[in-house]
Amino acid sequence: PAPVAVGLLGFGTVGSGVVRLIAEHAEELEAELGQRLVVKRILVRDPAKERPVKVPPEVLTTEPGVILDDPEIRIVVEVIGGLEPARTLVLEALRRGKHVVTANKDLMALYGADLLAVAREHGADLYFEASVGGGIPIIRTLMDGFASDRITRIYGIINGTTNYILTQMSRQGRSFDEALREAQALGYAEADPSSDVDGLDAARKMVILATLGFHMPIALDDVAVQGIRGLDRKDIAYADEFGYTVKLLGTAIRDDGSVEIAVQPTLVPKDHPLANVSDAFNAVFVHGEAVGETMFYGQGAGSLPTATAVMSDVVAVIKNMLLGVSGKRLGRPLRPKRLKTPAE
Ligand code: NDP
Ligand code: HSE
Repeated sequence: PAPVAVGLLGFGTVGSGVVRLIAEHAEELEAELGQRLVVKRILVRDPAKERPVKVPPEVLTTEPGVILDDPEIRIVVEVIGGLEPARTLVLEALRRGKHVVTANKDLMALYGADLLAVAREHGADLYFEASVGGGIPIIRTLMDGFASDRITRIYGIINGTTNYILTQMSRQGRSFDEALREAQALGYAEADPSSDVDGLDAARKMVILATLGFHMPIALDDVAVQGIRGLDRKDIAYADEFGYTVKLLGTAIRDDGSVEIAVQPTLVPKDHPLANVSDAFNAVFVHGEAVGETMFYGQGAGSLPTATAVMSDVVAVIKNMLLGVSGKRLGRPLRPKRLKTPAE
């Protein structure tokens, strides 16, 4: 069969990982799908930029229409990030019936429900595994793995940049600024790293996890957010003396039908597994009434780990195409949300 043509929007940390995986794991992908995958075109801002992964120059374009209007490209991978132009491009792709895979939590946390509705309307798939937890397959675990359960708690470390900064400050004596610069150089941070350090990136991920886990339309305003900007090495050293490690935790708790969601620096006892999640690793605990406690751990950011999540979606989308079930991903309907009030 003819190869499946993919159009990539963005060729930065994640986009270059996707191109590498498609090239370097071509054998595994072809065995999985019975078809070859090719990255036909890649949308970038600056085609002249030096890049760690080489592609023929004619693959790069600055014109979205080259991808959106190409009928051969049935799958669009959005790894630009941020709200615009990502939102418009994803919408345009879906309206043309193209399947979209995105790593964009900003987009999914704010517009996920609307975009999923547009996708369904056009018989297209919209998958977003890489939007939370980097290489950890937490989205499909929540959507499918716990389909029969009633989830009561989701909590953990879901931002690689801040975990890297906190680890480097506590173990290597780095200053906040030095550690942030390193996290940026390693490709973990967002284009605007204040969304990492101020807790917004983690809050957006909690919106996605809590919506999927509790089947309620959770919004960003429902999350109480505090980042790590105010912390210095002394705070971390004091915590250490008393037997604690400081971690930026996301917590979503459902109690008697109402939910409470927060992102905040938290003192974690050193003997708790979360205390030993270091650098850009993430760990998510999910507690269900039937399953009890489960823990998911892995690289929460970075080029290839995140690319595996993107590619898991690309593979799922192609399998849906082969089976003729595109645009039909099922899930429990959302029920009215009940937030915990301060009096509760
Ligand atoms: P980068 O900043 O490394 O890459 C962004 C890419 O998008 C660049 O290639 C850039 O082009 C291109 N781009 C940006 N703006 C435009 C525009 N207006 N028009 C065309 N192209 C544009 O981002 P990442 O790869 O780190 O992140 C991508 C997405 O993945 C984000 O949503 C992020 O949150 C998410 N993500 C990132 C992870 C990570 O570890 N980095 C992990 C999990 C998710 P050019 O190269 O020419 O500048
Ligand atoms: N900036 C994000 C982080 C990327 O550091 O976790 C992964 O979503």
